[in-house]
Amino acid sequence: MTEDQPHRPARTDHTAAVERALAALDLDTKARLLSGQDMWTLPAVPEIGLRPLVMSDGPVGVRGREWSAEDPSVALPNPTALAATWDPELACRTGRLLAQEARRKGVHMVLAPTVNLHRSPLGGRHFECCSEDPWLTGVIGTGYVRGVQEGGVGATVKHFVGNDAETERLTVDNRIAPRPLRELYLAPFEHIVADAHPWGVMTAYNQVNGVPMTEHRHLVGEVLRGEWGFDGCNISDWTAARDTVRALRGGLDVAMPGPRTVYGAPLAEAVRAGEVTEAEVDDAVRRVLLLAARTGCLEGVPAAVDPAEVPRHIDGRALAREVARRSFVLLRNEPVAEGRRALPLDAAAVRRIAVIGAGAREARILGGGSATVFPDRVVPPLEGLRAALPDHVEVTFAAGADPHGRIPHARRGFALRARYLAADGQLLAEKPQFDGRVQVMGHFPEGVTRHNLGAVELTGSYTPERTGSHTFGVAGTGELRLTVDGAVLFEGRCVPEGQDPFEAFLNPVERRVAATLTAGESVQVTLRFEPLGREPGAGVDALRFGLGHREPQGDPDAEIEDAVRAAATADVAIVVVGTTEEVESEGFDRTDLRLPGRQDELVTRVAAVNPHTVVVVNAGSPVELPWRTDVPAVLLSWFPGQEGGAALADVLLGAHEPGGRLPTTWPARLRDAPVTTVTPEGGQLTYSEGVFMGYRGWQAAATAPAYPFGHGLGYTDWEYESLDTTPDSVRVRVRNAGDRPGREVVQIYLAPTADAAPDAPERPERWLVGCAVVEAGPGESAETEIPLPDRAFAVWDEAAEGEGVHGGWRRVKGVYTVEAAHSIADRRLTAEVTVG
Ligand code: BGC
Repeated sequence: MTEDQPHRPARTDHTAAVERALAALDLDTKARLLSGQDMWTLPAVPEIGLRPLVMSDGPVGVRGREWSAEDPSVALPNPTALAATWDPELACRTGRLLAQEARRKGVHMVLAPTVNLHRSPLGGRHFECCSEDPWLTGVIGTGYVRGVQEGGVGATVKHFVGNDAETERLTVDNRIAPRPLRELYLAPFEHIVADAHPWGVMTAYNQVNGVPMTEHRHLVGEVLRGEWGFDGCNISDWTAARDTVRALRGGLDVAMPGPRTVYGAPLAEAVRAGEVTEAEVDDAVRRVLLLAARTGCLEGVPAAVDPAEVPRHIDGRALAREVARRSFVLLRNEPVAEGRRALPLDAAAVRRIAVIGAGAREARILGGGSATVFPDRVVPPLEGLRAALPDHVEVTFAAGADPHGRIPHARRGFALRARYLAADGQLLAEKPQFDGRVQVMGHFPEGVTRHNLGAVELTGSYTPERTGSHTFGVAGTGELRLTVDGAVLFEGRCVPEGQDPFEAFLNPVERRVAATLTAGESVQVTLRFEPLGREPGAGVDALRFGLGHREPQGDPDAEIEDAVRAAATADVAIVVVGTTEEVESEGFDRTDLRLPGRQDELVTRVAAVNPHTVVVVNAGSPVELPWRTDVPAVLLSWFPGQEGGAALADVLLGAHEPGGRLPTTWPARLRDAPVTTVTPEGGQLTYSEGVFMGYRGWQAAATAPAYPFGHGLGYTDWEYESLDTTPDSVRVRVRNAGDRPGREVVQIYLAPTADAAPDAPERPERWLVGCAVVEAGPGESAETEIPLPDRAFAVWDEAAEGEGVHGGWRRVKGVYTVEAAHSIADRRLTAEVTVG
């Protein structure tokens, strides 16, 4: 069977197998089964043939049980990039690749996709979510989950629900009215449950309307399971479960990570004390056993997917490159000479290209946080371009401005190993190090336990390439001592200010020191670390500390001057600008949308000397581009994954079109956006904009964004020829009016007219109800039929009577305009439809 022939898992009936296994378990074992046994695994019960079930983070790759560069994974573009393809089939293929990666690493459950919404551009994990639109998020999430599960691996749709920002994420109470909750934030989960039947959902840290999501009986029990029929397993976000009885009553099946959680022994005790019944525990255990059966962890029971049926080998590098170029959004492409647009570049006519920006050499390929994976190779833009350009083209490089606040992990010139020591100094284990980051999240090396570990020493040699003042960064949560060439440069305790243990883990405090070193003269470097016991989760095997290093720096003004000089003498200047891990990661939100450091100044200076300046924006979420009309081309490359540089060369040189369309509006300035704060007040964050979020809000705003929802240019032009519609579907015909083959994302919006029912609540001007990706050669036409879902015409009405629930969907009758569009601001054809 081939990569393109999907195998939809049959919905095997595992009921008998599950009941048989359940009947063989005693109360203590059942309670234990609902709790992680470590960071990533559910316990095995050999007596019933139950193997350990392993979970691992996505969404851009599958890390596996180890959190380190020594166990590499394919790194795909970030989820916003995937959503920018507007292509559920491509999302499905990425899911299949992730299933293949999971199988290779012994993982049964991928902790992805992340389908919270882009409520505000300040959201710290914006890059890890798909879109501001619930429908687009829903179709991309559906494709992704189908792909993962066709490979016999479970998907865990997260974070249910309302984890749309990170500030105070462990405790914040998001106040969301029923209508936006249903029409926006719950909608992608509902869509994916209906169309892809995920085997798992992860409940979020936050509260919604006063109830923690790990205890939310209404949203989990009544809505997710009751109304939508979700039959999978409900797994807590890591450390999010806080109360044994309330969690079980709230429908939480598994508390992660272990070994100490509110389930396990405390749950068995709660049953014995009569606080909950064993029957309630049984319900949760059934769902864990069903998950085990589906993923092949229950011996003698056929898994949902026969391993022999799993698609043949998928080439991860090729797919990462394809998704990247299909996701790049060409925001602007103006003529530079004789009517020729800035992109694609004509390599035959170019003699010298100045590549500028720190991110062109040190690629930022993914966002930070739990989504981090470690690929076995990375193609930076500079390398990708050099490999693709013909020999006659000279490529120069100048960093111009380095946006990094933190010191990068020590790597070039270092030969390091980590020595795990007992309190008395005895060596317990020794591991070679890929770079200066020592990280354990799940399993200590053989011979090391939480109890016998006293300290870790990162030690080895460093051979400088340059003479001068070298900066070392010391980071971690604990006691740290750095010795370079026999001199103690740092000794002290580093403790984070905030309370979020994951943030302390992912973004530890950094201290800097300097040493004057001589080129070619090796020095001995040792960083000793004693942990403080602030790991995420009680009793889990986790530690992280690191050594950073930066070579002697030039004068920042001189660096910019060098870049400007290089640009002035080149035919084309390509400037790569972007955000850093201090700006986009997990556990905190952004405070503004500016590019860090002096990057804006760099672009302005380069553009002033070279009229053919192409800016590549390497960011996962919106940034302000104050110079955007001063340059002829702006290409958004997102966090493009490991093959990003190769994909960039494909697109800049015209081997392929940039295929992406914005899945989220890009503001010119933060203050214009519909939601400009994500900081709770008194522990509460009120979604006061109601349903007017994202483009739904922008349409009512006085200011236009920099780039509207759905925007993105290709290398050909499209004529929209015809549009026919019924209340059930739309047929659109488009013609490729350019001179090269191309791909168009046909977007369908629905706008209520003045004749729509007068009793309808206030609705946005228009909303996305469908899309299709079509391809055509020059001069050719393509036709596509796009279904109009029932829900497109409905509003959530609290007064309506649902089945046993408060409120229901109400179809709003009347006359609507159906619009076929290139973007929400570029609507080409319209037709009216009357809905009765
Ligand atoms: C994140 C989850 C992730 C989990 C395990 C949490 O901090 O919110 O998205 O799956 O950690 O790494």
